Amino acid sequence: MDQLEVLLDAMTLEEKVGQLNMVASFRAVTGPGALQEVDDLIRAGHIGSLLNIWGREEVARVQRLAVDESRLGIPLLLCHDIIHGHRVIFPTPLAEACAFNPVLWQKTAQAAAQEASEEGVALTFAPMLDIARDARWGRMVEGPGEDTWLARQIGVAKTRGFQGEDLSFATSLAATAKHFGAYGAVTAGREYASADVSERTLLEIYLPPFAAAIAAGVAAIMPAFNDIAGQPMTANRYLLKDILRQRLGFEGVVISDFNAVGELLNHGVAHDLLEAAVLAFNAGVDIDMTSNAFIEGLPIAVDRGLVSLNDIDNSVRRVLRLKERLGLFKDPYRRGSSVSYNAQKGKDQRRALAREAAQRAIVLLTNKDQLLPLAPDLICLAMIGPFVDDVGAMLGSWASAGHEEQTVSFFEGVRKAAPNCHLDLVIGVDGLSQDVSGIELALAACRKAEVILLCLGETAEMSGEAASRADIGLPGAQRALAEAVFALGKPVVVVLTSGRPLAAPWLFERATAVLATWQLGSEAGHALADILFGVINPTGRLPISWPRAVGQTPIFYNQRATGRPTQIGVHYSSCYIDTLASPQFPFGHGLSYSAFSLLDFACLTPLVKHNDNVEVSVRVRNDGARPGEATLFFFIHDLVASLARPVLELKGVKKVFVGQGAEEQLSFVLAVEDLAFVGPELDLTLEAGRFEIYVGQSADPVGLLKDSFDLVL
Ligand code: BGC
Repeated sequence: MDQLEVLLDAMTLEEKVGQLNMVASFRAVTGPGALQEVDDLIRAGHIGSLLNIWGREEVARVQRLAVDESRLGIPLLLCHDIIHGHRVIFPTPLAEACAFNPVLWQKTAQAAAQEASEEGVALTFAPMLDIARDARWGRMVEGPGEDTWLARQIGVAKTRGFQGEDLSFATSLAATAKHFGAYGAVTAGREYASADVSERTLLEIYLPPFAAAIAAGVAAIMPAFNDIAGQPMTANRYLLKDILRQRLGFEGVVISDFNAVGELLNHGVAHDLLEAAVLAFNAGVDIDMTSNAFIEGLPIAVDRGLVSLNDIDNSVRRVLRLKERLGLFKDPYRRGSSVSYNAQKGKDQRRALAREAAQRAIVLLTNKDQLLPLAPDLICLAMIGPFVDDVGAMLGSWASAGHEEQTVSFFEGVRKAAPNCHLDLVIGVDGLSQDVSGIELALAACRKAEVILLCLGETAEMSGEAASRADIGLPGAQRALAEAVFALGKPVVVVLTSGRPLAAPWLFERATAVLATWQLGSEAGHALADILFGVINPTGRLPISWPRAVGQTPIFYNQRATGRPTQIGVHYSSCYIDTLASPQFPFGHGLSYSAFSLLDFACLTPLVKHNDNVEVSVRVRNDGARPGEATLFFFIHDLVASLARPVLELKGVKKVFVGQGAEEQLSFVLAVEDLAFVGPELDLTLEAGRFEIYVGQSADPVGLLKDSFDLVL
C-alpha cells in the first residue's frame, strides 16, 4: 500500500479533521487563542496547517511540535501571503501586469518563492486572478486587471514561478489561485458585497484565468468571500464541484478564505458552525482557514451522517498528497534550513529584478511638449507632494516582510540619479487631510525650480482588502495643491502613486506629463529616476481602462456590441449625457520616448477551417528619436454570431524592440480553436462566419488597423 494510505489508515477521525484545519500563527492580527493553545493543538494533531508564519526559528519550532510531538508526526503546511515579494518587494500585481511580460512575471514569483521558502514558508495564497473592471474595488491592486486573456498569462507565469520545476525543491512554494468566483464583480465595487454574474460571464470572463492556472498545475484554489446570486462561494457546491472539479479538472486542495466558513452564518445560510462546516465541506472546501468550524463540526457531522467518512478521507488525501509533493514527509525542514538567504549575490539579483519590474510597471500616461525625459543637466528640481518620500506607499498593501528602511523613495532615487541638481523636497499637504497650510511653502520651492515633480496619489491603506472607495479621485487637499502648482505655469510632471486608476480629468488636462507609478516596491525611487531621466524608455501599458469619472465604472474595453452603439453626439446611442463613454486612457495605453507606426497590416489567411491557424503580418516603424520597445495588441471581433459578441477581444500581445528609424516585420498566429466562445448551451462553441482582426498599440478604436477572414466549418 502507498505510504499515504498507510498513514490515512492509522489516523483517527479527529486527526483527519486536524489536517483540514488551518490556524493563524502568533503573527496574525486575528486568530484563535494564544500561542500556547496553538502549540497544544499541534501536538494533539488538531492543526494541519498554519498561516501568517515565516522565520527560520519559529518555523522550525512549530514544525518540531508536529513532527516530534504529535502522535503520527505529520508535518505542518506553513503558509503565508507572498503576493509581490517577501523581503525584496516587487511592484503590486496590478502594476506588474503593466509589463505584459510573462518572463518577468515568472521571475519575480520565483524570486519571491526563493526568499519566502528560505524562511520556512511552503504555500502562498497567490496568484490573485480576479478580473477587476471596477476601480472602486480596492483589491483591484492585487490582481491582473480587466482582461481575461492577460489574466490567463499571469496565472500561468505566476504558478510556474512560485512552484518551480518541481514542488519538492526547497525553493518552491505551492501556489493558490484566488479568489475563485467573481470577487471582482461585487456590487458597486463594495468589498465583500454580493455579486450577481451570469454563468456565461463566469465561464467566459471570470473563470478562464483559474482554468489556465489549473492547467499549469496550481496546487490550491481559494474560493472568494462573496456570494454569487445568493450562493456564498464558500458553500457553492455547483461552482466548486461541478465547475472546478468536473469541468476544470482541478485535483488539488481547496482552501477557504480567512474565517469564510464561519461567515456563512453572517451570509444567513447556516444557523451555526456545525451547519456551516457541513455546507462548506460538502460544497468542496478541503481546508477551513481559521474559523474552527471543521474542527468543531466535522466529527459531529460524520457521527450524524451529514458528511461521509469517504469524503473526509478524500480531502485528507489531497492535503497529505500536497505535503508529500512539497517534500515535507522526506524532510519537513527543507524550507528554512538553507544558508543562502543572506548571500549578498542573491539579494543584489533580486533587487536588480525589482528595479526592472518597477521600470516596466511605470506607465507614461501623458507627455506634452515631450517634457520627458528630463535633461540630465537640470540645475534645480522641486519634489512636491505627500508621496515624495513615503516608503510605505511604495511598498503597497501586501508587503509581507519587506523593510521600509530598505525601500528607495522617489526623493532618494532622484537624488542619486541627479547628484548635481539642486533638489527641494516639500510635502505641501499630506495624503489625506484637508489642511492646506503647507501649500505656500511648496509654491516657494516650485518658483525656484526649472521642473516640478508633483508626487500625488493614494496611501497604501487606500487600496487592497477592505479599501473600496466611492470616490476614486485624489484624496484630501491634493487637488488644491496641484491647482496651485499648475497655476505657476511651469512644467509639471505628476507622479501618481495608487492601487487603482484615479479619476481626475482636470489633472491630465493641466499636467505637462503624468506617470502612473502605482506601488512600485523596494526599488521605486530608482525605477522612477531611470524613467524620468531617460535611462529607460517607458514600456508599461495599462491592464485596465482608466475611467474619467467614477460613474463610468465598471468600465472595460471588451463590451458586447449593443443595438445602439456609442456615437458621440447621437442622442439615442449608448452614451452618457454628461461625460464621454470612452475611458480617459484605453486598455493598453502607454507612451514611450519613441514613436511607433504600424503599417501594412494584412491577414494572410482569408479563409480558415477547423484546426487551422489565422495568420497576420504587420510592419512596425520607429519614427522617434531613440530605440524602443513597441507593444502590439491583437484583437478580434466576431461580426455575426448566435450571441452578441464583444466589440473587441484580446487574443495576443507582442513586444518588439525597434531601433531608431528602423522597421521590424512581425507576424502573429492565432489558432482557430481560440475563436470559440461560450455559446447558447454554455459550452465552447465555434461558429462559422466573418471575423475582423485588428492590431493596435492599445484598445483605442481610433488607432486600430483592421483586416478580416472567414471561418468555414
Ligand atoms: C484575504 C486572502 C488572504 C487571506 C489570508 C484574507 O482576508 O481575502 O486573500 O489570502 O486573508 O491572509
